[in-house]
Amino acid sequence: MNDINNSPKRHRVVSGIRTTGLLHLGNYHGVLKNWVELQSKYECYFFAADWHALTTEYEHPEKIHYYTKEMMLDWLGAGLDPKQCVFFVQSHIPEHAELHLLFSFLTPLSWLERVPTYKELRGKLKEKHLATYGFLGYPVLQSADILMYKPAFVPVGEDQVSHVELTREIARHFNHLYQTRLKSPFPEPEVLLTKTPKMPGLDGQKMSKSYQNTIALREDPQSVEHKIKVMPTDPARVRRTDPGEPEKCPVWNFHKIYSSKDVQEWVQTGCRSAGIGCLECKKPVITAILAEQEKIRERAALYEKDPDLINDIIRSGATVAQQKARETLAEVREVMGILKS
Ligand code: TRP
Ligand code: SF4
Repeated sequence: MNDINNSPKRHRVVSGIRTTGLLHLGNYHGVLKNWVELQSKYECYFFAADWHALTTEYEHPEKIHYYTKEMMLDWLGAGLDPKQCVFFVQSHIPEHAELHLLFSFLTPLSWLERVPTYKELRGKLKEKHLATYGFLGYPVLQSADILMYKPAFVPVGEDQVSHVELTREIARHFNHLYQTRLKSPFPEPEVLLTKTPKMPGLDGQKMSKSYQNTIALREDPQSVEHKIKVMPTDPARVRRTDPGEPEKCPVWNFHKIYSSKDVQEWVQTGCRSAGIGCLECKKPVITAILAEQEKIRERAALYEKDPDLINDIIRSGATVAQQKARETLAEVREVMGILKS
């Protein structure tokens, strides 16, 4: 059972991840490792944003429930501890939807139209089938997710800063509109910016699902090995005897993350002098990634074997979250004139 509510002095943080695919090493290095650190310092609410997944995936929702469950396993595998933090599935707390609805009445359209993630796509919305009510309202739902738990901080990457700004504006607007009747106003949560190391993908671009250059967190070892083996290298190294330049090679980006200084030097010298071959050079990367994944896979396997265990974790997280959510909503309903049932 969660007992995190016993430490009122810790600041609260809230964050979520959309369940649109399997988490990959980029998500691990960029988000999950950071969350694992946060869980001992803050009172953490982490959730799988399955409704937010629907904003873009509503035409093909078949796998969302699978990704949601896999995400929970990935979190456990990465070392998130359900005894230390609350984690849950967004749609299991229907209060999020109600708060989203109530916020929608007081959110000016113009605020949503100027959100950069919306503005950038505006021209392409029709063609991407995203000219929907839900897509425009995405950041209002996100504001509800956040303000529901009245956190001090929202740990997210750069791309989400504008959504947290909108959250603050909604909080301020709400507090102002109902100030005379409001007992506990919403806080204006701040971004806790995640210093994301740029996790490279298999092709040298940033690792991202949309580039199809990812390695899943618990991917099968053979598949990982194969993906690295066929990774492109410095195109100048046509033959084994041609020298290469690590800076022009996506494999080097992985060495920068996974290899010791000694191995890095071995790569630099060996590559430039054609002293080592590319397959040889990839070996320590393969070993390091597999070792990292082994721990994650092992931990997740403990839960994977027993579906009841994971269901219990998700359920007890939802119980704690829902208690907070109900408190928040009770006051919001009251100040917005909703008759008690
Ligand atoms: N929009 C976030 C993303 O795409 C996911 C998200 C949904 C979120 N609700 C949130 C993040 C609340 C932080 C807090 O990454
Ligand atoms: Fe890339 Fe290594 Fe081959 Fe050099 S030796 S091109 S760094 S894989």
